Amino acid sequence: MRQEAPLVRLFDPNLNIPVWVATRYKDVVDLVRDPRFTKDMRKIPDGSPSKLRRIDSMEVINRHMLSSDPPDHTRLRTIVSKAFTPRRVEELRPRVTAITYELLDAAKARGEVDLLDAFAFPLPITVIAELLGVPVEDREQFRDWTTTIINPPVNGDLGPIQQAGMQFIQYFQGLLARRRAEPRDDLLTALMAAEEQGDRLSPQELISMLFLLLVAGHETTVNLIGNGVWALLQNPEQMERLRANPALIESAVEEMLRYRSPVETTTQRWATQDIEFRGQVIPAGESVQGSLLAANHDPEQFPEPEKFDIAREPNRHVAFGFGIHFCLGAPLARLEGAIAINLLLERMPRLRLAVEPSQLRWRDGILVHGLQRLPVAF
Ligand code: HEM
Repeated sequence: MRQEAPLVRLFDPNLNIPVWVATRYKDVVDLVRDPRFTKDMRKIPDGSPSKLRRIDSMEVINRHMLSSDPPDHTRLRTIVSKAFTPRRVEELRPRVTAITYELLDAAKARGEVDLLDAFAFPLPITVIAELLGVPVEDREQFRDWTTTIINPPVNGDLGPIQQAGMQFIQYFQGLLARRRAEPRDDLLTALMAAEEQGDRLSPQELISMLFLLLVAGHETTVNLIGNGVWALLQNPEQMERLRANPALIESAVEEMLRYRSPVETTTQRWATQDIEFRGQVIPAGESVQGSLLAANHDPEQFPEPEKFDIAREPNRHVAFGFGIHFCLGAPLARLEGAIAINLLLERMPRLRLAVEPSQLRWRDGILVHGLQRLPVAF
């Protein structure tokens, strides 16, 4: 597609609407920063099929920064941005390290595990739940709700997605009421304070923010760890290189993000008018998505893109997106990925796949790119 049809109009079989997909690095970057596209569904021109297929009951969790344009986007992002700066995130290092060791010890005692279930999933969800102040013991519950909501509807049936959305909202309304009675030193309490000031954050925006942070905080980093370990297992010489020189971890994590990007495509952006792009017209109301994974393998940008090189330099990948919606959690994801992978290699000197590589399966859907399971032995 990148060579022959770099911008194609595909058809989303689940929602029954057209979606344009761009695969070249330069096009993806240009599309996501083009202000003629909107992230705000309310601005989709009336009468377009995308608008008609909107899931109305999801509106209440859809008022977050990734579904907003400036100035709302700027206001919403500013409220939480201080909690995710590299400096603030660095303070989490001791806690992330402790959780990582705990999970690795438990996994090692079992000898053979699905690395996603036993390690890659619990680490980021525990970290984001602690940061927000959400009870960690409820994590399986969020996992069910959030995975149902972000995955394509099965047979086009939107019922389960709406139900999971409602359960999520009810759960958080209960939690917020309890926290209002008993404030703590966590992000939930800080966000409630912003809501109480009235003009900064509406009740709907508060619930939406929690939804976004929880989803973004765990559905993605699990696949940075899973896909990263998979890439090392496929390239044993790179795994040995990293074991011999753990200081390479920062560039290794960047290469993992490029090579098997955990978020495969950007989220959707809608044309607010007919937009001419590279000789084609994207009609008003239709949506575009950039393939981050394809952009990250564009030979125009990355020499030998299919080579996994943990010291690749330069490596200006777009795994975290680009422009004003560039991933807010990038410093946290990088910290978690670096700690998880280095400590895994340190603790598990005989780490190996427990199944034939041909038995591994990737998840369906084009938003999240990750394995269904990653059985390993130590
Ligand atoms: C390896 C892990 C991660 C990857 C690959 C990733 C990727 C992305 C991408 C591609 C976007 C932009 C989507 C678009 O423009 O359509 C994004 C946005 C975002 N991410 Fe991440 N993410 C990761 C981890 C996290 C974490 C740990 C958090 C923390 C809570 C987080 C929070 C966010 C938020 C809040 C946005 C929206 C930013 C905005 O609209 O201004 N992400 N992420």
